[in-house]
Amino acid sequence: MKAVQIQGDASSPRVVINPSMDIPKPRNDELLIRVHAAGITGDEILWPEPYLCATRIPGHDISGVVFSTGPQYHGPLKIGQDVFALLSADRGQGQADYVICLPKEVAPKPESLSHEEAAALPIPLLTAWEAIESHINIRPGMRVLVTGASGAVGIMAVQLASQLAGANVVALSSSRHHDMLKHLGAQEVLDYNTSDWNRQTTDVDCVLDTVGGDILTQAWSAVKEDGIIVTVGDPAPAWAYGRGVANESVDRPHVRYVHFIVSPNSERLAKASDMIDSGHLKPLPIKPFIFNEAVGAWAYARQRNRGHKAVIDFVRGYEGL
Ligand SMILES: NC(=O)c1ccc[n+]([C@@H]2O[C@H](COP(=O)([O-])OP(=O)(O)OC[C@H]3O[C@@H](n4cnc5c(N)ncnc54)[C@H](OP(=O)(O)O)[C@@H]3O)[C@@H](O)[C@H]2O)c1
Repeated sequence: MKAVQIQGDASSPRVVINPSMDIPKPRNDELLIRVHAAGITGDEILWPEPYLCATRIPGHDISGVVFSTGPQYHGPLKIGQDVFALLSADRGQGQADYVICLPKEVAPKPESLSHEEAAALPIPLLTAWEAIESHINIRPGMRVLVTGASGAVGIMAVQLASQLAGANVVALSSSRHHDMLKHLGAQEVLDYNTSDWNRQTTDVDCVLDTVGGDILTQAWSAVKEDGIIVTVGDPAPAWAYGRGVANESVDRPHVRYVHFIVSPNSERLAKASDMIDSGHLKPLPIKPFIFNEAVGAWAYARQRNRGHKAVIDFVRGYEGL
């Protein structure tokens, strides 16, 4: 099978394509998915997992068709069914013709979307959903600041927080995305190019940060004294993974703060699939690339100000190598 690989290490990664890798075999209750499209989260190249995996195949976001199942799979999905999946952080290997999925990772694909559109969704969707439901427990009327609101996680967070949870969303992005974010449900918009953006709103109940770094630091002054900050931005803050306390918490001791890594969740994916098909959740804008252009797709995915999520198509336009 053909696959993308990341060679080198996180300090000097090199994306390559390989046309002759072994097709994995499903064991136990695993499913083998014929991948039609795989989404790219550009920062994955900074994560340790691709470099710990023998195949060096990256990729956690896929859409495809159930090709075969392990002998102990008795779940609801059928061979030939269209599905999409978030492959766990420690498993990945989705940027290939075939990938192994666990039952908890995979759900029916939204029927109204192409495989390319569906492949862009699982990580952003489940990251936003987990932050909102499991870490923040957003309730109607709460004020939520979403940073990186025009990014993949941000677009999902704005929609889920406003429409699913009934929160009042304050979206932080460059001004060219403000109309789109208001259309998706943001009540207020702020421009990160304004030096005092974090003083223009000082009473949010929670921050859902998808940027990290200086933006995360500045967001501390926007949150209430008893508020919560949840961050997923890369690189993770120094205090993540139990490595200490945030410097800002000295002056703001009652603000809670959390960093987490998204978990697979087939139930949430299935619910989101229905919300998309019923028009309650809008998909992400995507930029599809054919497999032969995978190196360029990764370069695109690493750029700022893209506005679209890069997706590699494993079926269409393949001309051999
Ligand atoms: N921990 C987890 O489980 C987890 C899960 C998913 C994603 N992530 C991480 O979360 C982050 C967001 O992911 P994504 O897929 O949404 O990425 P994305 O689509 O590239 O979006 C990133 C967003 O952040 C904004 N941004 C980047 N740098 C900024 C800066 N210095 N100041 C202000 N805004 C800035 C971008 O705005 P512009 O377009 O204007 O540049 C864009 O809106 C990534 O770092 C990703 O690795 C973590």
